Amino acid sequence: MFDTMTMTKVTGALCGSLLVYLLGGWAAETLYHTTAEAHGDEEVHQAYVIDTGASESAGAAEEGPDFATLYASADAAAGEKVFAKCKACHKLDGADGTGPHLNGVVDRAKASSAGFGYSDVLLSMASEAWTPENLDGFLANPKGYAPGTKMSFAGLPKAEDRANVIAYLATTN
Ligand code: HEC
Repeated sequence: MFDTMTMTKVTGALCGSLLVYLLGGWAAETLYHTTAEAHGDEEVHQAYVIDTGASESAGAAEEGPDFATLYASADAAAGEKVFAKCKACHKLDGADGTGPHLNGVVDRAKASSAGFGYSDVLLSMASEAWTPENLDGFLANPKGYAPGTKMSFAGLPKAEDRANVIAYLATTN
């Protein structure tokens, strides 16, 4: 029924299929391992990025022109409007309220309004001054800049608002 030629063809076909199957399996295994390793690396990398979330958000805040550029062209009149967000706690007539008075705060020593009960973290910075740059850092993220501060204010996310309100505060010096 089967002649030698047919048997040879069938055997050849079977061997060929087996070879393709083995090669395919090997190739799939190689690919699988490569993918798994790459994926593993990616996971390690992502875990690292999550760990340093703080610096990631700091990076996001750095978008756009730097503070010096914004401050050089800051608009004190616009800053007076921004100061409406501070008025509930801060006065500009030398009297302290919920927060210390802010007239003259630009380049004033930190935590230096005599008689105001500052938080420990602000007192620990008393040897530094509220330069426009320092005010920018504090107002961007009060609790990030001074962890434990008593200032219950989320911060001014817009860099322009910060530069403008600092320019306005400088006019009260
Ligand atoms: C909910 C009340 C509240 C609001 C709103 C608020 N602050 Fe304050 N602020 C405080 C308190 C309280 C402190 C004292 C913080 C401490 O001792 O840790 C403070 C401290 C400060 C200081 C440090 C002053 C110093 O003498 O060292 C600056 C500068 C400041 N605030 C600016 C602002 C500005 C600008 C705004 C508006 C954009 C604002 N704050 C909004 C309550 C507030």
